[in-house]
Amino acid sequence: MMRVGVLASGSGSNFTALVQALDREGSPARVEVLICNVPGARVLERASAAGVEALLIDHKQVPSREQFDEAVAQALIDRDIELVCLAGYMRLVTPTFLRRFPGKVINIHPALLPSFPGLHGVRQAIDFGVSIAGCTVHFVDEGTDTGPIIAQAAVQVLPGDDELALAARIAREEHRLYPAVVNAIARGQVKLEGRKVRLQEPL
Ligand code: GAR
Repeated sequence: MMRVGVLASGSGSNFTALVQALDREGSPARVEVLICNVPGARVLERASAAGVEALLIDHKQVPSREQFDEAVAQALIDRDIELVCLAGYMRLVTPTFLRRFPGKVINIHPALLPSFPGLHGVRQAIDFGVSIAGCTVHFVDEGTDTGPIIAQAAVQVLPGDDELALAARIAREEHRLYPAVVNAIARGQVKLEGRKVRLQEPL
């Protein structure tokens, strides 16, 4: 069973989707811990409702980015976490953190990368006027949303869509795609070759 840790800062709908999907029979992975950096974030309630251990490590209480990431990495290592999923985690991770989990940190982003990285991916897509939006699951590297792409799902932008409406349709795809990627990684079906990702089976 692959032990998964989730890092999140906000609402946590992707956290819940991961917990529920990986809880199903036959899943080779399981969410063992949630780490949240924002006091009062809804994801903390979701974790206790789901019976998943939740740790709050408030970045404002830690003097430096390095020390913060060190605390997060240590908590994950203490729990033998093998795969780290960023799920609405609104912080850049340091190179030191990534070195602790080489090739083992993945992220979901609400846009078809490399378009619209960073904050407010859905709003950026609407403002730009694209007709196809979507989401991307990728390995995390030292840049902002620049790591090797594992999987993407496209979502049509409909006339009259605002950020909220489009984000809701993208979220549905996120909730399907992210657990599918985690299961594929746990089954050894995802290989990284340079910056290209090879999937043994379509997701
Ligand atoms: C998701 O849409 C995720 O793709 C996005 O934050 C949302 C979190 O929702 N992540 C980013 O924008 C990262 N750059 P959730 O808290 O309900 O899972």
